[in-house]
Amino acid sequence: MDSLSLGIDVGTTGAKVLLVDSRGRKVAEALHEYPLDTPRPLWAEQDPRDWWHAVGRGIRDVLARVEGRSAVAAIGLTGQMHGLVLLDEAGEVLRPAILWNDQRTAAECAELTGRVGEARVLELTGNPILPGFTAPKIEWVRRHEPEVFARIAHVLLPKDYVRYRLTGELHTDVADASGTSLLEVGARAWSPEMLEALGVPLAWMPEVHESPAVCARVSAGSDCGLAAGTLVVAGAGDQAAQAVGSGIVDEGLVSATIGTSGVVFAASDRYRVDPRGRLHAFCHAVPGKWHLMGVVLSAGGSFRWYRDTVAKLEARDARSQRVDAYDLLTASAEKVPAGSDGLIFLPYLTGERTPHPDPHARGAFVGLTLRHGRAHLTRAVMEGVTYALRDSFELMRELGLSFDEVRASGGGANSPFWRQMMADSFETPVVTTRVTEGAAYGAALLAAVGAGAYSSVEEASSSVVEVLGRLEPDPDSSESYGKGYARYRALYPALAEDFRRAGEG
Ligand code: XUL
Repeated sequence: MDSLSLGIDVGTTGAKVLLVDSRGRKVAEALHEYPLDTPRPLWAEQDPRDWWHAVGRGIRDVLARVEGRSAVAAIGLTGQMHGLVLLDEAGEVLRPAILWNDQRTAAECAELTGRVGEARVLELTGNPILPGFTAPKIEWVRRHEPEVFARIAHVLLPKDYVRYRLTGELHTDVADASGTSLLEVGARAWSPEMLEALGVPLAWMPEVHESPAVCARVSAGSDCGLAAGTLVVAGAGDQAAQAVGSGIVDEGLVSATIGTSGVVFAASDRYRVDPRGRLHAFCHAVPGKWHLMGVVLSAGGSFRWYRDTVAKLEARDARSQRVDAYDLLTASAEKVPAGSDGLIFLPYLTGERTPHPDPHARGAFVGLTLRHGRAHLTRAVMEGVTYALRDSFELMRELGLSFDEVRASGGGANSPFWRQMMADSFETPVVTTRVTEGAAYGAALLAAVGAGAYSSVEEASSSVVEVLGRLEPDPDSSESYGKGYARYRALYPALAEDFRRAGEG
């Protein structure tokens, strides 16, 4: 009987449960969705009990497909980071979870940063206190819901609530805990200084572990079909777990993912912090390693906006010809020279995170002339998103990281044209990998390490991830993109004040 590992991803739109065999091959998968509530503008909440119901259904689904033939050796958890789950003494949920994309805490961030000092926050936690992070959410509850605050006994991150329902135990991991503003990221332990300054008792926080460590066992009463006693490893936040699943586990390896948002992720052997806090510095899911991360809020999201608005008619034509609208648009963009004849697009359609943590930032086309047509606009959008990703690579290089290739993933990386554009603009070869199962897959690999199937996370990851097609940078295009990028970089500082005024109406 083969022994399996189970990865559980408590995502923002739904929970994915993935069963993987001892050679890292997918055996069964289930996805169950749940709602996201926005009771007020800027708010984003979910009921943690919905996560548990979706995970429970997913577990029963996948187990039904292997019934009697295989046994689950270990479980790994991953999920949306930063969300605040509050439990009372009896372990009951006190209020809906406040999620990573909730923006209500600008005032609390400023207050807490003032209390500790900006430089000290960066020194201890590796990052500024950002509205999406967990600590300012606790402060918000203290100020706005004192009756809830008075009953807090436990603070958990989303995936850790699911672990609590599965095992009855309270644990977390260093990678996910890095996004709370309460972890000393360099020391990989809760920060007594941050906890004290923020008025959060250590007793509220779950025990923190390295990601592949076995920290709990499925309890007899969990009622989800798994055998009582099944091992549960600590797991990781979704970005670190995804990196384990796509092989970004050693220094020198970086990835660029173009989904709705864009993420640049680099593994680092030592703790490096951007002195201006523009890149996230978090613990990796690989014991003793860290990672740096840049987030572009509208990457594929910019191209989708462009397809659905500016290029709406082309998209409609594409549908009537039964071709993919992105393919049609990209084919015409290929006919325009690199650099779009001087046209630049800024992709800050939903504000920005890296390198400009500015909710007021806006999108722009700059440099239009009568010579520019639709294909130029299309190409400029793709180039603008690529430049935005390049910003994160430049910051990483400034911190002394070097890399020989970039692993591209996400919907945008399906286009060979976009991948070549990345290679030319980053002046680095771009490769893809065969494994694209996402964070749940990384969590399953962490479980397999915990169960002893592999001796380390690095070994698990490198034995399953296969590198495919490599695109080399073309020097002529690199030169054109270099000029475009220099102009791109100068535009945000020139326009930031105007963006702020635009928001004032
Ligand atoms: C990471 C981040 C997102 C969330 C939701 O910093 O904000 O990746 O974890 O997926």
